[in-house]
Amino acid sequence: MAGNITFAMIKPYAVKQGFIGPILAIINEAGFRISCIKSTKLGRKEAEIFYSIHKSKLFYEDLVEFMSSGPVIAMILEKENAVEEFRSLIGHTDPAKAKDGTIRKKYATSVQSNAVHGSDSDENALIESDFFFSKKDRY
Ligand code: CMP
Repeated sequence: MAGNITFAMIKPYAVKQGFIGPILAIINEAGFRISCIKSTKLGRKEAEIFYSIHKSKLFYEDLVEFMSSGPVIAMILEKENAVEEFRSLIGHTDPAKAKDGTIRKKYATSVQSNAVHGSDSDENALIESDFFFSKKDRY
């Protein structure tokens, strides 16, 4: 259902800080259906692959290190226009630039440790969902 799903992840530091519950509550209240969810930990290789689009960036190594440093919460969210709606809910990549009320404004501590990931396109929503969830886990 391209257009109606996005892939989201609560990042290691937000998990460590105990923000899973509050972040899920915001997602719920915003009208997303959490169709798949799991706690998992990315291996270094997996983090490299997941963020391979940023391979040429200076922050790539640190990002891979950070994303494989502890458990994450991975999920597939359903809502009409899910990618855009979720990106608006989480706010700017840099929490200092995120609007009041957004998840990153509330729970992010830096650009790297920005609490949550959200897919940036319908195409990537499908690729990223497939990366974390097998077909039999999707309902
Ligand atoms: P995310 O939405 O997961 O997608 C790519 C991630 O790279 C982004 O969130 C940030 O955590 C990270 N990122 C983007 N730009 C920078 C930057 N300038 N410095 C460090 N990390 C960055």
